[in-house]
Amino acid sequence: MLIDAETAHHAALNFLRAIQGFPPALGLARLCYRQKPEKELAVKLAGLEFPNPVGLAAGWDKDALASEALSAFGFGFLELGTVTRWPEKGHPRPRIFRSFKDQWIVNRVGFANDGAEAVAGRLKRIDPKGKTVVGLSVGKMLASHPKRLIPEAVSIMEMCYSYVSFFSLNVSSPNTPQGFKMGGRGFLEESLRELSAQNQHIAQRLGQSPKPLFVKISPTVSLAEVDELARVIRGSGVSGVIAANSMATPRGGLSGLPLQLIALKMTARLRSRLAGSVPIIGVGGILTPRDAWQRVLAGADLIQIFSGFVFRGPGFVRQILSYCLDQMHKEGFSNISQACGAKADYYAR
Ligand SMILES: Cc1cc2nc3c(=O)[nH]c(=O)nc-3n(C[C@H](O)[C@H](O)[C@H](O)COP(=O)(O)O)c2cc1C
Repeated sequence: MLIDAETAHHAALNFLRAIQGFPPALGLARLCYRQKPEKELAVKLAGLEFPNPVGLAAGWDKDALASEALSAFGFGFLELGTVTRWPEKGHPRPRIFRSFKDQWIVNRVGFANDGAEAVAGRLKRIDPKGKTVVGLSVGKMLASHPKRLIPEAVSIMEMCYSYVSFFSLNVSSPNTPQGFKMGGRGFLEESLRELSAQNQHIAQRLGQSPKPLFVKISPTVSLAEVDELARVIRGSGVSGVIAANSMATPRGGLSGLPLQLIALKMTARLRSRLAGSVPIIGVGGILTPRDAWQRVLAGADLIQIFSGFVFRGPGFVRQILSYCLDQMHKEGFSNISQACGAKADYYAR
């Protein structure tokens, strides 16, 4: 790799910001990349209407810099962030490593972001043309004790409540101290209950409907732990589970191909345990349109891409959507939600 991966990422973000600032370029991007809305691909979930099931995973646009350009690439939804209450520098650079040949990314960024105030200011100005759903991932400061997770998350939510359609709680970062303990059962149970209650309070105070809350979990768990997580999530009041974050390794969080089978099986297992009671957002190692379709069959109501977007580029969303449409027609599904979980038992084995 000739150029540092994080430098390349910032260059891509700057390019998208330039497109955003120049309407003809934005229009051209829409023309080239955005699939025309298809009813069969639309998903209704947690009271939200997703024009299609393909989302951008958290961490790609942490600071909400490029949502209009990303929307032009055809995403059905964007999970911006992870944002913390105050700005974070994260771990020292270099901290993102990737292999195009072997299709993996390792990162130990550690939530570097501009902080809730700056991000709220940008979210306020977003006007993604079309109906791309925009949500925000929230986490705690690197140095904060896990007990601070909910107060800090609530504070971020209060600042951004009117500008996004959903929030997700990141309890699974492989790069924050105690990131894993945070995903443990007792802690998770208590945190989700508290956050759901606070969500109701904020909505009441602002005279709005409560926003859907998702929780993002770690893939570094045993099958028995997945069952336990499913039980906790089922009783927690959250509107969805995002499975999964990058996998913890000594070098940092591992994403891409090495995560594929684990994330696929996790989706299928969750599907069989949750039995449709809590929607699943499948993420991890979706690198081809076929992987995306497989994830839907395994039980993902929605999917997200990160590494696949980095390696395949902006045309990837459209490729996934047109492949899914073809498969739906071939296999006799009249909409994508019908296909969701059709092979969960097979992939859960
Ligand atoms: C450089 C990088 C930064 C990431 N930052 C975040 C983050 O801030 N919050 C989060 O929830 N996930 C973050 N992730 C995890 C991704 O959202 C995703 O769960 C993971 O990469 C697996 O998907 P993939 O195999 O398609 O890359 C990050 C991943 C990478 C590679």
